[in-house]
Amino acid sequence: MAETLVLPKTAQRQEIYESLLPQLQALTEGEPDLVANLANISAALKEAFGFFWIGFYLKKDNQLVLGPFQGPIACTRIDFGKGVCGASYSRKKTILVPDVEQFPGHIACSSDSKSEIVVPVFDKTGEVAMVLDVDSDQLNDFSELDVQELEKVAALITSFL
Ligand code: SME
Repeated sequence: MAETLVLPKTAQRQEIYESLLPQLQALTEGEPDLVANLANISAALKEAFGFFWIGFYLKKDNQLVLGPFQGPIACTRIDFGKGVCGASYSRKKTILVPDVEQFPGHIACSSDSKSEIVVPVFDKTGEVAMVLDVDSDQLNDFSELDVQELEKVAALITSFL
């Protein structure tokens, strides 16, 4: 496909997600390189929504290690069970954090991050292969819509793992 995103001129996240998902599918289809695909997915989510930080932490041995991302530099390694990312990995569940200061053990890579959502990405055996982390510089910026739609992005990634 052409390497250009076509996005609706709206601030409605639902419409943007609806337009974006098939484009992410087309963008990654037939490309076997994981880093290339995660890099383009990060860039597309950043371009579509302007998120403060969006990226991946990949399970490598006994830690989560920073992968492709868009935004300010970030912590490189997170232990399982630590922070929102490590908690999502260990619980195998999406975690929505309306106010990062209220999440015990939150890891502040940037003091500008105010709310966060972390979605586990499963491999085909049902193990968590990585987490998708999205940070906002606004409090309470994520909702069930983001949970549902970012879980669809995670499912797309599972399809090519
Ligand atoms: N806040 C995350 C750490 C990663 S950064 O937000 C990019 C956490 O608590 O796991």
